[in-house]
Amino acid sequence: MKKLEDSAKRGRPDIVHFALMEALSTPLFLGNKMRVYVHTINDRIIAISDNLRIPKSYFRFEGLMMNLFRDRSVKSDEGTVLMELADGTFTDLLGSIGAGKVIGLSTAGVRSTAEKVAGISRDVENCAFVVGGFPRGHFAQSTTRLLGPVYSISNVGLEAHVVIARLVYECEKLLQEGVDHEGDKERGKIGA
Ligand SMILES: C[S@@+](CC[C@H](N)C(=O)[O-])C[C@H]1O[C@@H](n2cnc3c(N)ncnc32)[C@H](O)[C@@H]1O
Repeated sequence: MKKLEDSAKRGRPDIVHFALMEALSTPLFLGNKMRVYVHTINDRIIAISDNLRIPKSYFRFEGLMMNLFRDRSVKSDEGTVLMELADGTFTDLLGSIGAGKVIGLSTAGVRSTAEKVAGISRDVENCAFVVGGFPRGHFAQSTTRLLGPVYSISNVGLEAHVVIARLVYECEKLLQEGVDHEGDKERGKIGA
């Protein structure tokens, strides 16, 4: 691996496995409020469907990924598509999801908090959060130029799954606040 270009940003599917386990087991994802995509260093896009429950065993995850790269899709026993693989750049991915805003997460970003960063999504249709699934290094220039603001949510470097967990939790709290707010309006506690 070390001989390959950008070796620090390849060869760690375990990081993606961990990140997906985190994202796909949250109430936000299970409640169909978040879509999840993986863009790989060699321009493949993996679209995760709402029905995917990622295997906790890395061995089984690896098997699933091998099937995906061979067949370009993974289906459930009932025929529902769980994951699809397509060729495409990061630009293609952002275009296909119609992201209203693209927010990068990096230690090199402007210092903020997970709460404030998640809050940006409140007024944006299809807000995309971009987290690096690699152990070291920063986003490529070609990726950075497509990011809107880039924020750091801690004064230390975090693992990708921790960043995802914090952002998702803040988004869940925002949605809950919206529900409570509507409930209060209906009960006449606050003016419409
Ligand atoms: C293990 S880090 C990669 C190392 C990279 N040098 C960095 O610190 O951003 C994996 C990913 O987690 C996210 N990340 C790590 N620490 C962060 C922080 N303090 N604020 C925001 N995102 C962070 C970034 O998206 C990063 O690409």
